[in-house]
Order: sequence, then structure tokens, then C-alpha cells
Amino acid sequence: MGNFKSIQQSLATELTGLNSLIRQTLQSPNELMNKVITSYLEKEGKQVRPILVMLCAKLFGDVTDKALKGAAAVELLHNASLIHDDVVDDTTTRRGAPTINALWDNHLAVLIGDFFLSNALLQAAATEDIRIVGSISELGRLLSIGELDEIYTARFNNLEEEAYFKIIFRKTASLFVACAEVGVFAAGIGKEDPRAAALIEYSRLLGLCFQIKDDIFDYFADAAIGKPTGNDLREGKITLPLLHVLRDEAIEGCAGMRSLARKEALGSDEIASLINFAIENGGIDYAYATMARLRNQAAALLRDTFAPSPTRDALISLIDFIIERNH
Ligand code: FPP
Ligand code: MG
Repeated sequence: MGNFKSIQQSLATELTGLNSLIRQTLQSPNELMNKVITSYLEKEGKQVRPILVMLCAKLFGDVTDKALKGAAAVELLHNASLIHDDVVDDTTTRRGAPTINALWDNHLAVLIGDFFLSNALLQAAATEDIRIVGSISELGRLLSIGELDEIYTARFNNLEEEAYFKIIFRKTASLFVACAEVGVFAAGIGKEDPRAAALIEYSRLLGLCFQIKDDIFDYFADAAIGKPTGNDLREGKITLPLLHVLRDEAIEGCAGMRSLARKEALGSDEIASLINFAIENGGIDYAYATMARLRNQAAALLRDTFAPSPTRDALISLIDFIIERNH
């Protein structure tokens, strides 16, 4: 955590600029919209994604206005997707606070999400870089497909690890890839540059770790993350720790657990037994080992491509923070 704080501090001026840009763009003549947005913006979150845009740009020089607009576009699109996701998932709390759909209703949440999405596109357009507009638009496509993929996979009980990785790429890592693209484009670097390719791949690996870690939270009770344990299973989503143990025929009781996991609607006791089965048979350890492998790949890529610098080190600490974070 200490390292993440120091990354935030090293970008304090840029983050202040980002947040005032976001507040500015989200102003509207509608009082209700302003009221909802003001209270939503009070819980900013960690802002990992705009930080990633800034660090990628910073590897090549200063964090320019163009990079800030690109970072704002990414953060706004991310928030739009969360606001819509809470409607899709019928979630009532996020970051320990009530969601917009819970506080108001689905109609209002969809419209607020639309407003965030439109502002994301406006900020992307304001960069006057068609490549950044392209990255943000492609991101919206991938996030929507990812969300549908997940619902489809849950319905058809696909237990392939490959399907899991495809989903988490689309629903989460695609956002991190867009951050790298926006950061390098803002710095005037093209995608054909091997340094851009390295940052894009690093960000993909970072995004995969982010989602694997997020999925692990669901196996444990933690008030800090503001969501109940077993939420994914309740929605029919089988994530890496359980997926891994359900595929291991050698584990006693595996077949029974597999048919339980395939059940249409799970009760609380059934969710608890699937969670315990995953934990007791090393599913969490496997997920951590997977993240460590991806982390080492990402760090090696950065070390091979970039000369030592505080920004390169910050990118490596960022992936460590993502893996070690408690919420
Ligand atoms: C959180 O996943 C949600 C996402 C990562 C993406 C949601 C995407 C959409 C609703 C479609 C695209 C929307 C726009 C505006 C283009 P989760 O439900 O697994 O995690 P959670 O616990 O944070 O809700
Ligand atoms: Mg959700």
C-alpha cells in the first residue's frame, strides 16, 4: 500500500488536474443529475486506470494536457461501465456505499451511465487524436461483449480456464490495455513502436492480475470491499480458484462439487461449501501463483524494454500493489 501512496503522491498535481477536468465535464443544467453526480464523485476510488495512463505517458516525458484528457476519458468510461454494471448485476453497494440504482432507481442509473459514457467520448475527442478516440470506442465494444460473454458462459457452465481468461481480458484487462494505448498515443508514440507494444502487453497482464485478485475477494468476508462473499457464485460466475479445483478429478468429491456448481440457483449453504472446497484444495494458492507468473512476465518485459527510471519502477510497484491490495 505504501508504494501506491507514493505513486499517487508523485502524480498529485496531475491527479488534481484530472479530477477538476472530470468535475468540469460532468456539469449539467439538470439539478438532479448534478446532485447524483456530486455524491457519486465523493467516493473517487483508487483511480488506478488514469494513473496507468499517466505513468505510460510519463515514461516518454511530461504528462501533457492531452494525456490528462485521455486519462479522464478512460476514468469516465470506467465509471459509466460500473454504473451500468450495477444495474445489470442488481448490486446495491459498491466501494462500501449504496449504488446509484439502489439510491435512486435503474432508470436514473442507466441515464447517468449514458451521461458518463458521452463525456468519456467528449474528452477523447478533445485530445484531437483519432487513435485515442478509436481506443476508447473499441474499449466500449469489448466491455459490452465481455459482460455478455460472462452471462453466456455462466448460463452454459463453461469450466475451461481459457474461457475464464477470455472473459477477464474483455471485461477488465481491455480497460488497462486502453490506458496504455491512450498514454503512449498522448506521448506521440505509435503502436508500431516496440515500447508501445511492451506497455500494452504489461497492461494486459496487469489487468488480468487485477481481475484475478478481485475474484479472490469474493471467497472471503470483508466489509471493506463493500460486497457480500460469494456474490459471483450467486450470479452463476465460476472464477479461477474454484474453476481450477473443479477441473482436478483427483480431488475427492470433485464430481459432486462440479454438479453442484452447475446448479441453476445456489443457496447460501451451497455457496459456502463450494467456497470451502476451493479454499481447502488450494484454489486460492493456485490463483496467487498464476498472478505471480503474470507479474514476473510483466516486470521482465518492462526491464527488457526500458532503462531504469522512477517511472519504470512505479509501473512494477503498481502490479505488486494490485496483487497485494486488501480491497
Ligand atoms: C464489473 O465486473 C464490470 C465490468 C468490469 C464491466 C461492465 C461493462 C458493462 C456494463 C458494459 C459496457 C458499458 C459501457 C458504458 C461501455 P463485476 O460485476 O465482475 O465486478 P464488480 O464486483 O465490481 O461488480
Ligand atoms: Mg458487478
